[in-house]
Amino acid sequence: MKVIAFAGSLRKESWNKKLLHHAAELLRGMGHEVEEYDISELPMMNEDLETGGPPPIAGKFRDLVEEADALLIATPEYNHSVSGPTKNAVDWLSRPPSNVLAGKVAAIMGATVGVDGTVHAQRELRWILARLACLVLPWPWVLVRFAEKQFDGEGKLTDDKLAESVEALMQALVDTAAKLK
Ligand SMILES: Cc1cc2nc3c(=O)[nH]c(=O)nc-3n(C[C@H](O)[C@H](O)[C@H](O)COP(=O)(O)O)c2cc1C
Repeated sequence: MKVIAFAGSLRKESWNKKLLHHAAELLRGMGHEVEEYDISELPMMNEDLETGGPPPIAGKFRDLVEEADALLIATPEYNHSVSGPTKNAVDWLSRPPSNVLAGKVAAIMGATVGVDGTVHAQRELRWILARLACLVLPWPWVLVRFAEKQFDGEGKLTDDKLAESVEALMQALVDTAAKLK
C-alpha cells in the first residue's frame, strides 16, 4: 500500500512529527510505502491563490494524496481543536477541481504535552473529514498524553500499550485500504 502521511505541526522538534515517524517506520517494516510529507511550505488557504488551479506546491500535495491508497495524520491540539496547519492542509485537499479526500481511508492520531492527548482535536478532525467523505478508522484511538515523557532518544514510543495501539491502527489502515482497492 502507498500511504501519504503528515503531521499538523510546523515545529522542528514536534511530538506529532515523532509520532508520525514512529508509525511510518512500522508501516515500512510491514512492507508498505510511506511518504512523510512536510506541510510547512503550504501557503495559508487564500482563494486568490487558486486562480487557474491550486498553487504548484498545493497541487503536488493534492496529487500525492490522490495517488495514495491511505492517509495518515498526526495532529496537535490547539485550544481544544485541530492545529491551524492541520486544518490548512485539509482545506487545500478539499478544493476544486476535486476533493481528493473523498473515498480515501484515513487513520488519525495525536500527541500533546497535556492530559487530554488530542481527544478534542481528533473529535473535530473526524467531523471535518466526515464532511469531506473521507473514511476515518473508528478504532483504536491513539492519544499521546504528556508527550515529553513518551519518546526515547531515537523518537520511539516507550510505552508498550501506546506502541501496540499505533501498531493496531496501522494494521487496520492497510487492511481497510486493501479492501477498498
Ligand atoms: C496555540 C496553542 C494551543 C494549545 N492548546 C492546547 C490544548 O488545547 N490542549 C493541549 O493538550 N495542549 C495544547 N497546546 C500544547 C500542545 O499540546 C503542545 O504545544 C504540543 O507540543 C504541540 O504539538 P507538537 O509538539 O507536535 O508541535 C497548545 C499549544 C499551542 C501552541
